[in-house]
Amino acid sequence: MLTATFHGHACFLLEGDGKRIVIDPFLTGNPAAVIGPDGLPKLDAILLSHGHGDHLGDAVALAKRDKATIVATAELAGFCGDKGATAHAMHIGGAHQFPFGRVKLVPAFHGGRVEGDATGKYTTNPCGVVVGLGGKTVYHTGDTGLTLEMQLLEGRVDLMLVPIGDNYTMGIEDAVRAVEFVKPKIVIPMHYNTWDVIRADPRAFQRDVGTRAEVRILAPGESQILS
Ligand code: NI
Ligand code: MN
Repeated sequence: MLTATFHGHACFLLEGDGKRIVIDPFLTGNPAAVIGPDGLPKLDAILLSHGHGDHLGDAVALAKRDKATIVATAELAGFCGDKGATAHAMHIGGAHQFPFGRVKLVPAFHGGRVEGDATGKYTTNPCGVVVGLGGKTVYHTGDTGLTLEMQLLEGRVDLMLVPIGDNYTMGIEDAVRAVEFVKPKIVIPMHYNTWDVIRADPRAFQRDVGTRAEVRILAPGESQILS
């Protein structure tokens, strides 16, 4: 069994097998979040899709608080390590079995800046994250445009977390095509309505996905259970 809780923007808490993983923990300064970082339970791991501030967020502070491991692409993991966090470096195409579950990084097309890096030395590729936990497979696409690489995950995903806010990422039209590519059982839209520039109607996304997958629209703080 897996429980996925949406915490606004692109932040999800995944719980299964007695383990807790957060992805993209942007809570401080997140207008869409209803909790701060103190509202998160003790974490085993923190997964990052990329270094933009609305994803890196509270990662380093949470890693220190809980002695949790940050998992990210090598350059971003290096940045977090240099900030004093425990970090495990991976890269796109690689998978690793951790005590808290299996993680694979997959391609995402987006910007590579790391928030808080004045040196430019940590510029990295963004990624999507595929996590096996609680007997389920979760695909968090990260911030990305529609890519053909998504087709490589066809039929392998139970829960897909997909941006619909447009402007910086896919909008609804391309997010529907992404669902067609991946064919997950359940989809939760993300990365919308945090700010005006990424305003989108999740009901329109749900309608346009139709019978291709079950679309669950979560308000921040709400959970989806996969049993
Ligand atoms: Ni971004
Ligand atoms: Mn973003």
